[in-house]
Amino acid sequence: MIKLTVNGQPYEVRVEPEWTLYYLIHDRLGLIGSKQFCDRGACGSCTVIMDGRPILSCMALAIECDGANIETVEGIARASHPLIESYARHHAMQCGYCTPGFIVAAKALLDKNPHPTEEQVKEALAGNLCRCGTYPQHSKAVLEAAEKLLGG
Ligand code: FES
Ligand code: FES
Repeated sequence: MIKLTVNGQPYEVRVEPEWTLYYLIHDRLGLIGSKQFCDRGACGSCTVIMDGRPILSCMALAIECDGANIETVEGIARASHPLIESYARHHAMQCGYCTPGFIVAAKALLDKNPHPTEEQVKEALAGNLCRCGTYPQHSKAVLEAAEKLLGG
């Protein structure tokens, strides 16, 4: 049995040793915003924020997340984070499969560094892959969201 908080809601769940964090939040808790694309730590689509750090939920065991504070794309959307609108405005999303991972990684960056440079945005999102090539749009969307958060 582990306890964890997901998007502000506490959970107490019995987990099997082989369950990944992705399986727990997506298949057991029903938070289907995160996506499992590669299931081997290569694409970033399953990114969630754990205790303030972006992590790949396909590579973390649920059992290791006892006591953790997790944030998923659902929590970010529910809070109407400016990233959501900026992503839509800049067409930084296409298939919707990898977009949640980008948004979560971007949110983790802005939490840590509210005023990033374009280079820092690119670096923070470097682990996220998008086969349709929306890369130039991501930095525009993230920098715009950063400005809004700073009151610009
Ligand atoms: S599904 Fe986790 S990194 Fe690709
Ligand atoms: S938005 Fe998913 S592959 Fe590009």
